[in-house]
Order: sequence, then structure tokens, then C-alpha cells
Amino acid sequence: MQNKSNIFMTFGKMPIANNFINKENFKDEYFFEMSVAFDEKKSLFQLANFPKPTQMFNENYKFFTNSSKYMINHFENYSNELSKEFLNNKSKVIEIGCNDGTLINFFNSKGFDCLGFEPSKNVADLAKKKGLNIITDFFGPNFEEKNFKKQTNLICAANVICHIPDLENLIKGIDYFLSDDGIFVFEEPYLGSMFEKVSYDQIYDEHIFMFSISSINKIFDLFDFQLVDVLPQVTHGGSMRYVIGRKNKHKKSEIISKYLDEEQKKKLDTIESCLDFKKACELSKKMTLEKLNKFKADNKKICGYAATAKSTTVLNYCDIGNDIIDYICDTTNEKIGKFSPGTHIPIVSMNYFKKNIPDIAFLFAWNHKEEIFLKEKKFVENGGTWFSHVAL
Ligand code: SAH
Ligand code: TMP
Repeated sequence: MQNKSNIFMTFGKMPIANNFINKENFKDEYFFEMSVAFDEKKSLFQLANFPKPTQMFNENYKFFTNSSKYMINHFENYSNELSKEFLNNKSKVIEIGCNDGTLINFFNSKGFDCLGFEPSKNVADLAKKKGLNIITDFFGPNFEEKNFKKQTNLICAANVICHIPDLENLIKGIDYFLSDDGIFVFEEPYLGSMFEKVSYDQIYDEHIFMFSISSINKIFDLFDFQLVDVLPQVTHGGSMRYVIGRKNKHKKSEIISKYLDEEQKKKLDTIESCLDFKKACELSKKMTLEKLNKFKADNKKICGYAATAKSTTVLNYCDIGNDIIDYICDTTNEKIGKFSPGTHIPIVSMNYFKKNIPDIAFLFAWNHKEEIFLKEKKFVENGGTWFSHVAL
């Protein structure tokens, strides 16, 4: 699929980021040219080409929300905050992209009438096993859910709106389900944080858009909706929570214009910031390779820590393979025993990491570093060193 706008950079050929694969499938592996573009009209950073959603979100999806204790706790707080601010005991809640049901389950336990949309069958089944009401499909309008049509008080989402290529269809779905004074809240990785950290690994097939306040403000304004509040989040290396309502139904927070001014000063609303980002990515690649080659020249053993979707971008963009990284350890059973997409580095268990301690661990889950550093104190005490392409 394609987005038509100004292409300003390519990361080269990329596989499906979460497609951790078996040896016998190496020869059929799918690749696409991962170019990025900026739509100046909407101030929208986006992938220029990407695979079809069904190639990424299906019965073999390898990401599970409950793989991070920190995120489980974050979602409990998210449900508490939204319940207090927007809901009463008769409220109805929809979650888009509910995955294993972690967030919607918190709302369900509070007694709200809940519905989750989740197209990836394996994770949708996990949510259903919790007794949740789940539609195993992509969110949109035209579902025959009479209890929720124009009656939903809160539609919430996290780390999924940037996965949805057809934003018009998404907004039609919001219009179809949301009550007159209902609220749509979602939080997504923030463009400003990605530029600041040069965390270009936020860009992969699933992340079709990297939103800013300027872009969300412009997109919803094209429809009968408006941005009414924003709230920065520390999750996933810097995210932004957006609160959307129907036009002229809610008071717009004064903080929005302050943030929009800040984004304009940083040129996040024009392609200029993208051109600086491109240079920063090229420099980051050069420095990462120089450091890894130096470790190798010093006979250091290097492993990867956490087989993240983000690692697929770093490894393929920098062309880092099994000659540099011996293995990548991860907690996810569905990834262990498989190989990293494109670069084919073996994925092993945490037990293997404990028994085959490297000198250097490339932390691919740098966004979960607090949680990981806390449980891996021994690695550093025994002389191990953490490394990453972003500042740790
Ligand atoms: N919200 C969870 C999961 C994020 S991963 C969290 O933050 O941890 C994105 C999830 O959205 C995946 O489970 C994927 O299958 C689902 N998804 C992708 N496109 C979707 C769409 N159009 N509608 C609903 N869910 C979608
Ligand atoms: P993601 O960055 O693509 O969301 O994936 C996170 C991956 O990191 C997931 O495969 C689980 C793994 N992980 C660990 O292995 N150990 C950890 O402590 C945490 C938080 C995540």
C-alpha cells in the first residue's frame, strides 16, 4: 500500500517487524522498501509504502501487552484516570486494538459495559478467555452492535491508531459508535520524542504514522471532531495522549495552543525537522557500527536483549547480523527458537542469557530500561555492559 506525499528518506529493504521466523521460511521472507514521507498539509509523518494490515495482524501476531509489568500498571492507571474523568456507572467503553485484553479488562472489572476490537486472532482469543466481549476484526463503522452504536461514552486506544492506514474509515467508526458527548482517547509514540532521541526504530511496518499534536489537530479538524486535550506520557520512550470529542461539545484545554507553539518552534509541523532527523539517523547508524566493530575487534561477546519489533529496524537498517550479535534473548515463548526478521539472529530464552552471559548486551527494549535494569542488576555487577543506539 502507498501514501502519496513527500518522501524524504529510505531505511532500505525491511521485513515484517514482528515476523520472527523459522529457518525453513527464510527463502520466502517478505521485504518492502521502507521509505518515509511527510504530508505538509496535515503535518503528518508517515511510511511511504507498507504491507497490507492482514500481513501484520493475523493469527500469528507476536506482541503481547502483558509482556511488560510496567505497561500493565500503566494501563491500570489509564483506566482509573479515564473512569474518574469521563465515566459513570452506566457508561459503555470500546477499546480499539485490545490485544490480550489487558486494558479493557480493567474497565470490565469496574463494571462498565465493554467491547474490544482485535483483528489478530491469537491475542483476541486470549482476551476472550478472560470473559471479555471481543470482536475479532479491524475496527470501523458498520458493525451491528446495537448496544454501542452512538451510545459509547468512551472509545479508548493505545499504540494502535498509528497502525491504521485508513484514518478516514477510523474516524467514520468513531462517529458510528461514539455518543453525542462521548470522548475518544488514544496514546501513541510521539514524533517530538522520536526526533529528540533519534529513536528511528519507532519506524517499522506497523507504525504507519508518527503523530504530533499539530497533525492530530489538523486531521480531526477535517471531520466533525476536535482535539480537546493532550497529556504527555513517558511510555514507549515518549508518547502523547490525545483526547478528542465532537466539535463544540467540550471545552478545549488551553494547553493545546501552548504545545502547538512549541511544535512550531521545533518545526515539527514542517518537513524541515524531518531533514534534520534524516541526517541524525545516518550519523547514528555510522556511530553504532563503529562501536560494535570496536567491541568485536576487542573480542567482546555481544548479545541482543529483547526481540522487539523496533530491533528489526535497527538490525536491518544498520545491516547487523549473526556475525556481530550471537543471539537475542526474550521472554516471549512465541519468539524463542525462531530467528530475527531479515537478519536471522537466533532468539533464545532468558535462561540461555543467564547461562551464556555476554560482555555487551544491546538493549533493544530501551523503552523498558527501568524495568529491565532492575531485574538484571547482576549482569552489570558481573562486568556486563549495556549498549544501545539511543542514550540509556
Ligand atoms: N493496545 C495494546 C496493543 C498494541 S499493538 C498495547 O498498547 O499494548 C496493536 C494492536 O492493535 C495489535 O494487537 C493489532 O492486532 C491491533 N490492530 C491493528 N490494527 C487494528 C485495527 N485497524 N483495529 C483494531 N485493532 C487493530
Ligand atoms: P516491543 O518493543 O516490540 O513492544 O516488544 C517488547 C519485547 O521485549 C517483547 O518481545 C518482550 C520483550 N521483553 C523482554 O524480553 N524482557 C522484558 O523485561 C520486557 C519488558 C520486554
